[in-house]
Amino acid sequence: MTAEKIPVILDGDPGHDDAIAWTAAAAETRLRVLAVTSVAGNQTIEKTTLNAAKILTLTGMHVPLARGAARPLVAQPMTAPSVHGESGLDGPALPEPTVPVLDLPAVSLMAQVLADHPTPVTIVATGPLTNVATLLLIHPELKAKIGAIYFMGGGIRFGNWTAAAEFNILVDPEAAHIVFTSGLPLYMCGLDVTEQALLLPAEFDALAALGSDVANIVADWLRFFYSFHKEKGYRGAPVHDAAAVAALVSPALFSFREMAVQVECTGDHCRGATVADWYGLHGKAKNVHVAVAIDREAFVAWLFARVAGYGEAKR
Ligand code: BDR
Ligand code: CA
Repeated sequence: MTAEKIPVILDGDPGHDDAIAWTAAAAETRLRVLAVTSVAGNQTIEKTTLNAAKILTLTGMHVPLARGAARPLVAQPMTAPSVHGESGLDGPALPEPTVPVLDLPAVSLMAQVLADHPTPVTIVATGPLTNVATLLLIHPELKAKIGAIYFMGGGIRFGNWTAAAEFNILVDPEAAHIVFTSGLPLYMCGLDVTEQALLLPAEFDALAALGSDVANIVADWLRFFYSFHKEKGYRGAPVHDAAAVAALVSPALFSFREMAVQVECTGDHCRGATVADWYGLHGKAKNVHVAVAIDREAFVAWLFARVAGYGEAKR
């Protein structure tokens, strides 16, 4: 008997690691991607939406695509050109998009997909949580149609954009707070595991050696992404966002610990921090399954197998 595919909506701000996450998701036989939505984060919404259309074209993922929030709920917009370049996805040339962007806001597309699908749908969010929070605010009646939210964001030990905060949560802490207090099943892939979700330079070459256009482009994305991280002393490229997809389809690659996690929305030093109560000190209800460990080599093998799915021929 073949297992049911997990129906998902992919929401993100591509972004090199979003692009790799979506490339893996498109080739993942355990998933059925119902829709893709963009959000502002790594770059402006115009750029992340264009990148999304190019990724869908490259990977042959012909699913509905809609443009999401241009800015966070409350905060001023913030982008990350130092990491992802001016386009948000600098590096290899990509095909001109043939997948259209719908004339419909991302949140409306998400709502339509949730309402129409016969079973609950999982959201995999790899950017700021602006679209997801807006969906919850506007369509509380659809909460029961969300199976779970897997997201890349936060970190219980350290930040990467400030000492306390990770980029996706820092960009829109108010949105993250709405999601963290939603009562929905939440699976957090934060920096604690995604900084270990490293691909090493020798592995970029091994990926390229798989031979397909997609494999070569993924390798070039990794090379570009690593150029920033190498300067910071990393030994490889942390493919943060792909961890959120892997956690959904291959949870055995991770260890999870359920904890009460709160988002700091104020404070002089800690805005955007995800404050996790490891020891259960304050007695609040546990609201997040936090990934606390990852099997790096198994993660890399999973990613290679997905990219290998694109074969050797030109797609
Ligand atoms: C997160 O921030 C973005 O730059 C990446 O795409 C990832 O989602 C890592 O902190
Ligand atoms: Ca991202």
